[in-house]
Amino acid sequence: MEDFLAISDFSSDELKTLLEESRSLKALYKSGQRDLCLAGKNLAMLFEKPSLRTRISFQVAMTDLGGSPIYVKPEDIGGIGKREPVKDIARVLSRYVDGIMARTFEHSTVTELAKYADIPVINALTDWSHPCQAMADALTISEHFGQLEGLTVTYVGDGNNVARSLAFAAAKLGMKLIVASPAGYELDVESIQEANGLAPDCVTQTNDPKAAVAGADVIYTDTWVSMGQEDEKEKRRREFAGFEVNSDLVAAAPEHVKIMHCLPAYRGFEISDDVTESPNSIIFDQAENRLHFQRALLRKLMS
Ligand code: CP
Ligand code: NVA
Repeated sequence: MEDFLAISDFSSDELKTLLEESRSLKALYKSGQRDLCLAGKNLAMLFEKPSLRTRISFQVAMTDLGGSPIYVKPEDIGGIGKREPVKDIARVLSRYVDGIMARTFEHSTVTELAKYADIPVINALTDWSHPCQAMADALTISEHFGQLEGLTVTYVGDGNNVARSLAFAAAKLGMKLIVASPAGYELDVESIQEANGLAPDCVTQTNDPKAAVAGADVIYTDTWVSMGQEDEKEKRRREFAGFEVNSDLVAAAPEHVKIMHCLPAYRGFEISDDVTESPNSIIFDQAENRLHFQRALLRKLMS
């Protein structure tokens, strides 16, 4: 494993091993022990967008493993690809540090970094995908259900970066994903076809959220307005009416259904406050598991 840019780049076995390693490192750290396998190593963390979970969990994971994270705001380096080409940033950082993680608008920025860097590059969210999130989500689902195979995850909302990475996680890890979105906001057909090419019929799409949750083990949602789409906020909020994950929608799902959200959550829009805070919500386990998955990922890529 050289870079971590997309779930579809890895085999099911590689992904399952990473989940297994996340579980064992989680247990190790919960028991108060440490694995200082990244002592003396540095990770450059480049961000074009805000972040609470990704930034802090990567920073803590790196420190936990004995290494040093270096947080870089876009303005610190004059913008990624603005003061100098992305390919030059990749080659310069390769001379200083042992890994790069990047959160960018354009997906091509992370692929360009990976092309020119001779150190591992991690996708920490782009407009196209959020693979670290989907792997932490799979870890969380497996902890709550004891398995992933055969489970149905219903994603209600925007067919966005988070939905796309979940589709590939579902395909690789044996889950079914139903995506329920308003017309015009569906997950793109190419991504669905690609996921279904890996595991036939693992991803389906509908415009009917109630029908979509009828057999759900998990209901998952994300913001209707992703970072960079702020100008479309009012339009999107109008067009997503009827897609809130609220108690009415949850009542249409099986009683055992778990509620997930990658956060940040906009209560009263894609999810109601009572559902966020309900006993079925595993949202904060999900947020915690970003740390546990990323420790395993950093150890795999950088030690
Ligand atoms: N879920 C997630 O990636 O959160 P941040 O944007 O806070 O990193
Ligand atoms: N879809 C959201 C995810 C935030 C973690 C965004 O890209 O802003």
